[in-house]
Amino acid sequence: MPPPAPRTVQQKVLRKAQITLLDWYSQHARDLPWRRTKDPYAILVSEVMLQQTQVDRVIPKYDEFLRLFPTFQALAAAPTADVIRAWSPLGYNRRAVRLQAIAAQIAECHGGELPEDMKTLLSLPGVGEYTASALACFIHGQNVPVIDTNVRRVLSRVFRGTASVAPMEVRTIAQWALPLGRGPQWSQALMDIGATLCTSQRPVCPQCPLELYCQAAATFRKHPAVAERRAAYGKRQQPFAGSSRFYRGRIVDCLRRLPAGDSIAVTDLGTTVRDDYEETHSEWLIALVRGLETDGLARVQETSATNASTAVLRISLP
Ligand code: ADE
Repeated sequence: MPPPAPRTVQQKVLRKAQITLLDWYSQHARDLPWRRTKDPYAILVSEVMLQQTQVDRVIPKYDEFLRLFPTFQALAAAPTADVIRAWSPLGYNRRAVRLQAIAAQIAECHGGELPEDMKTLLSLPGVGEYTASALACFIHGQNVPVIDTNVRRVLSRVFRGTASVAPMEVRTIAQWALPLGRGPQWSQALMDIGATLCTSQRPVCPQCPLELYCQAAATFRKHPAVAERRAAYGKRQQPFAGSSRFYRGRIVDCLRRLPAGDSIAVTDLGTTVRDDYEETHSEWLIALVRGLETDGLARVQETSATNASTAVLRISLP
């Protein structure tokens, strides 16, 4: 897409902004463990963990996970129940199952090597545009834009003066703004700016290396509260108590606490995850459990109850 007119002026300003941000990054980059390694497996683990979890919560889990499952092959061969246990307390547990499926595909179909081209990366289980571009960029050094929530916010504010720019337009801006051959540093720098300075709630423009080039900075200087009000809106929520996601998390937590190989009867599971559980909730609970089974997060077995002809469902980790 053509940059905002006039092109030559924009292009010059962009070059300056690129140099300024890359310089800033060379001095202020966050020292994050996945930036100290070139191991594709470790970087993949970090990217999957970082998708819905903040950096400071990921760091300890990342180290521990790599100790438990140090390679694609080790992760692929591990019992899924162990992988789900090791994922706690990151939440969004489907990511653990998905990561193991990616490792299995890489071990089995790609000779243990992470593919390089976007098309093959996108064919890995559950890998979408974000993850594929992050892997292509941070592992293989390809000059592709990597657009997560932070990057989207920073680019939108700097080049459009507002945080709410349509995703397609952000993609176009990201492609246009990408400095030749410096994509990995550029994207990590934008991530750092978004996480530490250009936050949704309280942008700290005076400390931001992009302030001079930023179309939103003037507004924030005049109305600092605008940013804060927006933020309250877009803030990431804990799963709403009572929502399906909330109870799915509680069920998986309960299954994790079972001794390895054990299962729990569905009614006992109900009373564990819900204080007010009664028989009328059983249909609701079974639907949740079946959903977890479909996602590879639970195993459901039908057994006959002692002294009864009715089938009892017993649930365990897979
Ligand atoms: N979020 C997603 N990927 C990241 C990375 N490589 N560094 C920091 N934050 C991230």
